[in-house]
Amino acid sequence: MDKIFFVFFVGLLIVTHGTAERNLSDDVAILGELESLNIEEEGDIELFDSPFWTSERGNKVLVNVDSFGAVGDGVSDDTQAFVNSWQQACSTSKAVFLVPIGRRYLVNATRFIGPCADQLVVQIDGTIVAPDEPKNWDKKNPRIWLDFSKLNGVLFQGSGVIDGSGSKWWEASCKRNKSNALTIDSSSAIRVKGLTVQNSQQMHFVVSRCDSVRLSDIQISSPEDSPNTDGIHITESTNVVLQNCKIGTGDDCISIVNASSNIKMKTIYCGPGHGISIGSLGKANSTGIVTRVVLDTAFLRETTNGLRIKTWQGGSGYVRSVRYQNVRMEDVSNPIIIDQFYCDSPTACQNQTEAVEISEIMYRNISGTSKSERAMKFACSDTVPCKHIILNNINLGKTDGTVETYCNSATGFGYGYVQPSAECLTSSDKKFIIEQTNEVEPPKHSRDDIIHTEL
Ligand SMILES: *[C@@H]1O[C@H](CO)[C@@H](O)[C@H](O)[C@H]1NC(C)=O
Ligand SMILES: *[C@@H]1O[C@H](CO)[C@@H](O)[C@H](O)[C@H]1NC(C)=O
Ligand SMILES: *[C@@H]1O[C@H](CO)[C@@H](O)[C@H](O)[C@H]1NC(C)=O
Ligand SMILES: *[C@@H]1O[C@H](CO)[C@@H](O)[C@H](O)[C@H]1NC(C)=O
Ligand SMILES: *[C@@H]1O[C@H](CO)[C@@H](O)[C@H](O)[C@H]1NC(C)=O
Ligand SMILES: *[C@@H]1O[C@H](CO)[C@@H](O)[C@H](O)[C@H]1NC(C)=O
Ligand SMILES: *[C@@H]1O[C@H](CO)[C@@H](O)[C@H](O)[C@H]1NC(C)=O
Repeated sequence: MDKIFFVFFVGLLIVTHGTAERNLSDDVAILGELESLNIEEEGDIELFDSPFWTSERGNKVLVNVDSFGAVGDGVSDDTQAFVNSWQQACSTSKAVFLVPIGRRYLVNATRFIGPCADQLVVQIDGTIVAPDEPKNWDKKNPRIWLDFSKLNGVLFQGSGVIDGSGSKWWEASCKRNKSNALTIDSSSAIRVKGLTVQNSQQMHFVVSRCDSVRLSDIQISSPEDSPNTDGIHITESTNVVLQNCKIGTGDDCISIVNASSNIKMKTIYCGPGHGISIGSLGKANSTGIVTRVVLDTAFLRETTNGLRIKTWQGGSGYVRSVRYQNVRMEDVSNPIIIDQFYCDSPTACQNQTEAVEISEIMYRNISGTSKSERAMKFACSDTVPCKHIILNNINLGKTDGTVETYCNSATGFGYGYVQPSAECLTSSDKKFIIEQTNEVEPPKHSRDDIIHTEL
């Protein structure tokens, strides 16, 4: 690391914290690690050359669902045609599984299982719709709709729409099993480009048990009041890159849960929705581990949360090494929130001594407006405190009033401009809440001028 930077920082920390009995070498080391936390964007996600199958049609074997009897009128059942064309495409080298443009294909819950022959492209240009009547949903597949698994090196792309027809499900009891619209499970080296996923019964796009996945230019939408309709849900997956995604739903725009690491999100638009979340983790005393997450460049508008980490009391495991940067919020209810008392059950949750440990979380260049007074909230377990929370260049305000930072059992530090002030992170009084007015002008030069390091 840059020596000048290092010296500067030790100086800054001493100035900022004076005689506080903090371990400076610890803080500086962690800051350095978080500064340089870098998630590979390409690496082994690179698939085969020329992702555009049309430009080399000669080499490709086109497997059009229409040739297998799909009708595409939105009424006829095209499930069998999809199953048959998948079998053909999956077993053929350099195949393109084509859902052609301009039609609506009604398809039941279906598993598309690999492994497949090499260089498969799934080209979705038309619309795929789910049956809309809960009574008739396939009882053998209560949790999935379009489920792709055991694939290696597959490209999904197109201008098509995957529509879960979820409206009747949203009204149905929350006890009912619901399906996620698109799932990619137990797969590696997957790229998904350009698709739209909408109106899912439950989650829109699930990436589970995968390694090396890149999603770009994905649009996801469902109404603000549709329950549990997470946008992109990442579970038990590593090396996942989300880029240039626009998500507006009734739940988290993105949720990252257990056993996931090396997750990079770049240029994300979120809203309406519940924000960009790590968790929930630790439900029913379970273990949850999420590490190495970077969000760079995001716009959140009218969401209930902004950058959220949520864990249940009684869990174990940890969330470690997370950096959020260059985020703009507009009318977000809880812009920055760590909630170790997350409780989404009808009955109140008891405090417990166990908790998922949260540490090494950096927020840098975060600005915008908060709907609530608590623009920053670090609500951590009394027995398992949050450690090494680092804030740099934060400018959160409220159009009509003041904002504050709430801390319970959380330590860390801020540098550069931090508004509202986060003094409570360094305070020994755990319940201390600092109120700040909204009137402070941002500094002319940000600390980033000096310590700027690129991703
Ligand atoms: C400070 O942290 C360093 C590195 O983790 C460690 O070696 C050292 O013992 C710690 N010092 C104190 C006083 O805790
Ligand atoms: C699709 O689901 C409906 C309702 O369960 C069923 O009647 C129909 O046979 C299914 N289609 C296929 C191809 O399995
Ligand atoms: C939900 O699915 C599970 C199996 O996945 C089943 O045991 C349960 O009965 C289903 N619940 C309802 C309400 O259908
Ligand atoms: C978390 O992930 C680990 C590793 O995959 C797994 O063993 C554990 O069961 C998962 N926990 C939950 C609650 O799913
Ligand atoms: C979790 O652990 C606590 C403390 O041991 C216990 O009281 C509680 O019943 C457990 N909860 C579940 C869902 O197992
Ligand atoms: C749990 O602990 C937190 C922090 O000390 C406290 O604010 C909250 O009221 C407690 N909840 C319950 C149900 O005791
Ligand atoms: C933070 O924001 C400033 C001003 O918008 C920008 O120049 C700088 O590159 C940003 N820092 C990082 C680490 O992206």
